[in-house]
Amino acid sequence: MKVLIIGASGLVGSHCMEYFKEKDVETIGTYRKYKTKGTYFFDPSDQNCFLFLDEINFKPDVIIHCAALTNVDYCEEHEKESEELTVTSTAVINEYCKVNNIKLVYISTDYVFDGKNGPYSEDDEVNPVNIYGKHKLAAEKIVENTPNFIIARITNVYGEEERSKNFISHLISLILTKTEKTFNLPFDQFATPIYARDVARMIYMLILDDKKGIYHLSSTDYYNRFQLASKVTSYFPESNHLCLSPISTNLSQQKALRPLYGGLLNNKFLLEYPDFKLTNIDTFVLKIIKNGI
Ligand SMILES: NC(=O)c1ccc[n+]([C@@H]2O[C@H](COP(=O)([O-])OP(=O)(O)OC[C@H]3O[C@@H](n4cnc5c(N)ncnc54)[C@H](OP(=O)(O)O)[C@@H]3O)[C@@H](O)[C@H]2O)c1
Repeated sequence: MKVLIIGASGLVGSHCMEYFKEKDVETIGTYRKYKTKGTYFFDPSDQNCFLFLDEINFKPDVIIHCAALTNVDYCEEHEKESEELTVTSTAVINEYCKVNNIKLVYISTDYVFDGKNGPYSEDDEVNPVNIYGKHKLAAEKIVENTPNFIIARITNVYGEEERSKNFISHLISLILTKTEKTFNLPFDQFATPIYARDVARMIYMLILDDKKGIYHLSSTDYYNRFQLASKVTSYFPESNHLCLSPISTNLSQQKALRPLYGGLLNNKFLLEYPDFKLTNIDTFVLKIIKNGI
C-alpha cells in the first residue's frame, strides 16, 4: 500500500506519517509553508499540484487529507481564504482521487455540530455555528461524492509536535521553560481531547480494513478548556508561573462562535475495534514527563 499524506507538516499529518512509516507502509507527505523532513511542497491552488507524484513515480492507493486553515477565529474574519484553503482545495484533491481510483481519508471536526447537546455520534444532525465549521462541512459534502472515502472527525488534538503549537504541548513547553503567562480559559467549552498518535493508529486500522463512511475518533476524556489545562499543570508542582483563569465564552473575546457542548462519541469505532487501547491526557502527560517533549 502507498499512502500520500497532505498536510504532513502539521500535527495530525506528522503523526500519521511517523506511524505509517513505523508500520512499513510506503508513505510520503506534503507541506505548504513549513517544510519538515521528507515532505514535498504541495499547493492545491496550482492546477499542476499533483505533477510531483509523476516526477517521483509515486502512485498512491490512499490519500489522507489533513490540510485546512485551522485557526477558527482567523477563518471567521477571512472567509474567502478559509473557503479556498479548506473547501476549494478539497475539491481539487477529491477530483484527483476520483479520476485515479484512490481512497480518500478526510480529517474533519466536531465543529460541524452546534454544540447544544454534545458529545455527538455519527448519526447526529450537523449544524455548524462558525465559518470554520461551515467550510469543514462543505468539504465533507464534497468528499462524500468520492466512491471510496472515510471522514474521520476529531477534536482538541494534542501530541508531540515540532512547532509545539497544539494547546497541551504549548502549555507543557511553557511549564518546562518556566515562562510566565496568563491563560483565560473558557469553562463552558467542552470537548473530547485525543492524542494525535491515536488518531494515526485509528486511521491506519480503518484503512487496513477498507472501511468507508464517517467515523468519530475520540478518547473517553471530556473536559472544558480550564479543566484540561488544570489537569496538565497538576502534574507539574513547579508550574505556578502559569496563571490559569476560568472565564465564560461570552467574555473570551473569541471572534467566532463556539459549539459549547461539543465533542465526539467513539462508540462506532470501539464496537468495531473493541480491543483498541486509547491514550488519555493523564497517560500522555506522564509519558512526556518520562521521555521529555
Ligand atoms: N488539531 C485539532 O485540534 C483539530 C481538531 C479538529 C479537526 N482538525 C482537523 O484535522 C486536520 C489536521 O489538523 P492539524 O491540527 O494537524 O493542523 P495543522 O497542524 O495546522 O496542519 C495543517 C497542515 O495542512 C497544511 N496546509 C494548510 N493549508 C493547506 C493548503 N491549502 N494546501 C496544502 N497544505 C495546506 C499545513 O502546511 P504548512 O504548515 O506547511 O503550511 C499543515 O501541514 C485539519 O483538517 C483540521 O481541520 C484538527
